[in-house]
Amino acid sequence: MNMEVSFLADHQWWKNAVIYQVYPRSFKDTNGDGIGDIPGVIEKLDYIRKLGATAIWLNPIFESPHVDNGYDVRNYEKIDPGFGTMEDAENLIKEAKKHGLKIILDLVLNHTSDQHPWFRAARKSKDSPYRDFYIWRDPKDGREPTDWASFFGGSTWAFDEQTGQYYFHLFSDKMPDLNWENPKVREEMVKIARFWLEKGVDGFRLDAVIHMAKDSRFLPVRNEDAEDETDFVLAEKYYANLPRVHDFIHEFNRAVKKDFPDAFLIGETASADTNLAVLYSSPAREECDAVITFNYLGFDTEAKDKRIPENWQQGKWNLAAFKKVMAKWQKDLYGKGYSALYWNNHDMPRLLSRFGDEQMYREKSAKMLATLMYLQWGLPILLQGEEIGMTNLKLPHLEDYEDPSIPGLAAAARKAGCTDAEILQMVQKRSKDTSRGAMQWTDEKYGGFSTYAPWLGINDDTREVNAAIQEKDPDSILQYYRKLLEIKKSMDVFKSGTWEMLAEHDPNIYAYLRTYNRQRALVVCNVSKERQTFTCPELTRTKWSCLLNNAGNSKEIPGRIVLSPYECYVLLQKNEAINGRN
Ligand code: GLC
Ligand code: CA
Repeated sequence: MNMEVSFLADHQWWKNAVIYQVYPRSFKDTNGDGIGDIPGVIEKLDYIRKLGATAIWLNPIFESPHVDNGYDVRNYEKIDPGFGTMEDAENLIKEAKKHGLKIILDLVLNHTSDQHPWFRAARKSKDSPYRDFYIWRDPKDGREPTDWASFFGGSTWAFDEQTGQYYFHLFSDKMPDLNWENPKVREEMVKIARFWLEKGVDGFRLDAVIHMAKDSRFLPVRNEDAEDETDFVLAEKYYANLPRVHDFIHEFNRAVKKDFPDAFLIGETASADTNLAVLYSSPAREECDAVITFNYLGFDTEAKDKRIPENWQQGKWNLAAFKKVMAKWQKDLYGKGYSALYWNNHDMPRLLSRFGDEQMYREKSAKMLATLMYLQWGLPILLQGEEIGMTNLKLPHLEDYEDPSIPGLAAAARKAGCTDAEILQMVQKRSKDTSRGAMQWTDEKYGGFSTYAPWLGINDDTREVNAAIQEKDPDSILQYYRKLLEIKKSMDVFKSGTWEMLAEHDPNIYAYLRTYNRQRALVVCNVSKERQTFTCPELTRTKWSCLLNNAGNSKEIPGRIVLSPYECYVLLQKNEAINGRN
């Protein structure tokens, strides 16, 4: 076998990939303990491949005390016993390859668990050789060194009795941040990446990557006379997207790609804007190969009650704002960087519950939203279960949820006078657990996920909404996703074409034109529950054929299209028209 040829063919494979996100805990349990596991992923490789995905992103599978579902790593080179063994992981890598699927692991570079041997050594004494793996500061006036807030609530600083200093944590206090200024930390992280690449994985999602550099002056955010002294405030300017972070990522990239040039690095770049995203993902800068932004997913909350964080208050989706930001991402990164296209992940509610319709138009809105998103320019990332139209996990009691940010919300909401029922509703709509319900494979009691109660829960609607039923139904969401992904992967116009928004100011239509050489495609989506009409000069000037529609329409395309609720069209310019233009 000529290695060079296969290497060339594979290089930049992510430019034509479709990623399927597996949240292993909730995907498939094979040993009846209610926790999804690696053998479960192996069992479902056929399913993932048949869907049309070409790569799997696995949320963390390393040994962890699970304070934050695996994002708190105790040992990066061991598999968490709940998920299986190293042998299972090696099997997965091997079997995935046979299925033509790449494996992307979730690598947490910014912090470890407080149970990690490095931290346990570091906290023992100020002289520990591992002390400088983390960030330590003396108290300031008897309290936290700065007024910075952590993402999980409260201060970014936790006091450690043993040595009388504070350590820094951007997330939970059980997840101390690593000190990336220390070259030894950087070396260790490269070693870990190489360990897995040698085992055959194909790349990494770099968790929270924009936060690895901190402003080490540790300045306060507010001035001295701020009113509420006990409050901490988010201070992104001091711990997100600092210039220094680019050096760290670049160095990591070079060290990793030296021997593994086709290893894929996709950075979780949360708050970065398009300018920063270009820096992070431009090939010339050798940092990340692609980014996952948070910028266009939002615009669906309202601060109805100022005392409760807005993120918990579901509101109406502001399509105009979404359009504006999405257009910016499509334009600003085209030909310069590379970005993921996604509707949901394990940190947020499911797409149907936010942007679509959970009831009457469940199937139609699911198909429309997928079409709208994935035929744009970029790398599709699907969250397990979206391809069958799963909705938010709705558990009966507040105590049934595990998301560590719920107690903080509940406290604020109770203070604001909310009842328990109101709080439960907020959690059912907005918590991270909404997307972590067990995968709905069949209509059985535990949805074919397990023979035992799933660790978090499963939606009752698994009786009607499941992969087995949809496999048999030619009109199901699952079958539609397969067609859609096939189109995405096989047509240059959707892989590489330019992108131009149409009907920019229409409050109900999302439409765009993609052009590649002389091939043109039009995607028209009705994002509303009402009938809408759409027309544009392109539509009347040339002849179009219907490639895909979510309402059974495929006839001749008139110059003016009437779209039923949530209907969408994918149109392709007819060949004779292309010839006619010559
Ligand atoms: C990322 C993960 C999230 C986790 C956090 C801390 O945002 O997606 O689940 O809590 O990083 O590692
Ligand atoms: Ca299990």
